[in-house]
Amino acid sequence: MKTTVTTLQKMKEEGKKITMLTAYDYSTAKLEDEAGIDTILVGDSLGNVMLGYENTIPVTVDNMITYGASVVRGAKNAFVVIDMPFMSYQTSVYDAVCNAGRIMKETGCDAVKLEGGVKFAPVIEAITNASIPVIAHIGLTPQSINAFGGHKVQGKTEAAAKQIIEDAKAVEAAGASAIVIEGVPAAIGKLATEAVKIPTIGIGAGPDCDGQVLVYQDVLGMFTDFTPKFVKRYADIGSIMKEAFADYIKEVKEQSFPEEKHCYTMKEDVIEKLY
Ligand code: KIV
Repeated sequence: MKTTVTTLQKMKEEGKKITMLTAYDYSTAKLEDEAGIDTILVGDSLGNVMLGYENTIPVTVDNMITYGASVVRGAKNAFVVIDMPFMSYQTSVYDAVCNAGRIMKETGCDAVKLEGGVKFAPVIEAITNASIPVIAHIGLTPQSINAFGGHKVQGKTEAAAKQIIEDAKAVEAAGASAIVIEGVPAAIGKLATEAVKIPTIGIGAGPDCDGQVLVYQDVLGMFTDFTPKFVKRYADIGSIMKEAFADYIKEVKEQSFPEEKHCYTMKEDVIEKLY
């Protein structure tokens, strides 16, 4: 059955944990969907793991639409959320609604996600008023790394912790359907989750959030440029891929691939006429 905003809300109310993984392409989305994931995030982390940028700043709306549409085609039941990239919602409420609308119209996704709390409440309200569900992202928001001075855990002082709780309450009041909370002490993940009625999905925010999200290349050991403390690796697919690539290279070089079973045939008498 297709997961919707109502399903996610009901899961929080019933105390059932929500699962979210990133995906950026049709095949991965299909595998995650078949495995039973509740929600798939087409994160702007694709800037790092798919496009090889150092951060998410260069990612464009067109990037998100291309990758997002392929994920939507692969996900039958999962709720698909697509990130609004840097400068697609910060310039004005009007730009934010236009870009959210473009992302939803051109991909068929179920919701958009944007980074920001209290300051972005008017943007969240306007997009929600246009009937586009919004997932807010608070705490460590990677599009602000230049302002933060790097990927730093947020909410460690009393003032910063109070601000995160205020952010959670403000995005809920503005109409957000759920909140991603990233890179905060577990105690703050718990307090923010208790402060709102909408579901929270944590990444490096402790076990008390209503759900958890991870980047799938981190889960599968396919991205090793940097590994945050909150990552758990469930398989080492990166090593399996490297071994398979090395085997292929060896067999082509030593001419043991392709074998007869991999080749197409034609009638001998036609071949003879070609010489
Ligand atoms: O872009 C992304 O993948 C994200 C997750 C890390 C939550 O925003």
